[in-house]
Amino acid sequence: MGPRANDNPHAWYRLSQLPAVNVTVYPYECDAYGHLNEAAYLQIFERARWEALARGPGMHPFQRNGVWPAVRKAIVEYHLPAFPGDVLEVHTEPVRLGRTSMEMRQRAVRVGDNALVAEVQLHFVMVDRSGNPTPVPEEVGALFASPARSTRSGEVVRHSVGSVTLSVDIRGDGPALLLVHGFPLDRSIWRHQVATLSGWRRIAPDLRGLGDSDAPEGGYSMAVYADDLVKLLDKLRIQKAVVAGLSMGGYIAFELLRRYADRVAGLILCDTKAEGDTTDGKTARDEVAALARARGAMAVADRMVPKLLGKTTRQTQPQLVQQVTEMIARAPVAGIVGALEAMRDRPDSTALLPSITVPTLVVVGQEDELTPPANARALVDAIPKAALTTIAGAGHISALEAPTAVSRVFAEFLEAVREG
Ligand code: MLT
Repeated sequence: MGPRANDNPHAWYRLSQLPAVNVTVYPYECDAYGHLNEAAYLQIFERARWEALARGPGMHPFQRNGVWPAVRKAIVEYHLPAFPGDVLEVHTEPVRLGRTSMEMRQRAVRVGDNALVAEVQLHFVMVDRSGNPTPVPEEVGALFASPARSTRSGEVVRHSVGSVTLSVDIRGDGPALLLVHGFPLDRSIWRHQVATLSGWRRIAPDLRGLGDSDAPEGGYSMAVYADDLVKLLDKLRIQKAVVAGLSMGGYIAFELLRRYADRVAGLILCDTKAEGDTTDGKTARDEVAALARARGAMAVADRMVPKLLGKTTRQTQPQLVQQVTEMIARAPVAGIVGALEAMRDRPDSTALLPSITVPTLVVVGQEDELTPPANARALVDAIPKAALTTIAGAGHISALEAPTAVSRVFAEFLEAVREG
C-alpha cells in the first residue's frame, strides 16, 4: 500500500514530463500464435521507460545524486492481445512519491485503434550505489512536478472543492464526460474508459473519502458528493458534462439531476438502481459500517468482493479480484463509513425517472448480483429516452470487468449524444 495523499508531504500528482513513446511489436517477441507474450510486455514497458527517460530528463539527475530507482514490484494487466507490427504508444506517469519509493504507471495504447492493450503499475525503491534504500533526492522528486504542465494532456491533479481536496484523472479534449465511481471503489474502475474514449474530455475524480481524495470524518451525503462534483466542474470551467455513474455513482448522478439538471448533457447509468434502501438494507449498511470501524477496510473487502465481481470474473480474472480487494483495502475507514451513511439515507429516485429528458444509456453486467438486470430494465422503462445494454460475463463493476465492451457502448452512445 502506498502513502496517502493527505499525510505524505512528498506526494505529487502532476504528470511527469516523460514523453509518450511509440514501440513496435517485433515478431520474435510473440508466441506461437503471434500474440505478444507476457514476458515481452514487461520488456516493452521497460524499453519505453528508458526511451522516455532518454528523451526527457536523461540520466543526469540520478547520476548527480548517486541514486537509481530499482523496480521492486510490477503488476501487469493484459487487456487485449497485441501482434507483430502493432505500434504501441506507451505513456509513463508517476502515481505516488514516497520517502524512499515511487510508483509509476505505464499504459500501452495501440496506435491503430486507440485500444488500451496493457498497463503496468510499478513500485520502485530508490537505491544508492550499494543497493541500499535511500530517500528520493529533491531534484529527482522535483523532476516530475512541473507546475507549468497543461492539465489538458492527461494527468492526475488535486482540486480543492471547498473544504476537501479531490484527486482527479483528467484526459483528452472535447465535450466533458464525468465518470463517477461506486462504493467502496475509486476512479481507477474507469481506467479503460479514461484511456480510450478519445474526442472527449474524460474526468474521473475520486469521491471524497475514497481513493486518494481527502477523507474527512463525517458529513457525507449524496448532496455533498453532488456539490463536490459541481464545484469540480466549476473549477474546470465546464458548464455541462455527460455524467456516467456506476452504482453509488448512479445515485450521485440522480442527485445531480435533482439539483443541477442544467449541468447534465447526457446520462450513463451503470449497474445502479433508483430505489432507496429498504429497512433491512439500512440495517445492513450499519453492520458494514460497524465492521469497517472494528476490523478495517480489509474486512469490508473480504465481505464485498465476491458480491461486487461477477462469477465469470471471479473464475477467469484472478488478478482483477486481487486488484479490487487491494482497492477496497486502501479505502479510508472514514470514507467507507461516510459512504454507507450517505447511501443509507439517500432519497428514492424512482419519481425522478420520468422527468429525465437527456439521452440516457443504461448498462448492466449480466452477472450483477447487487443491482441485477431487472433493476436496469426498470430504469429503461421509466426514463423516456433510455436504451439498455447488457454486458455478458460481467458483474457489478462492469466498466472494469469487461472494459472493452463497456468502452465500446459508451463510445457509440457518446457519438450519438455529440451528433444529437
Ligand atoms: C456500489 O457499488 O456503489 C454499491 O454497491 C452500491 C450499493 O451498495 O448500494
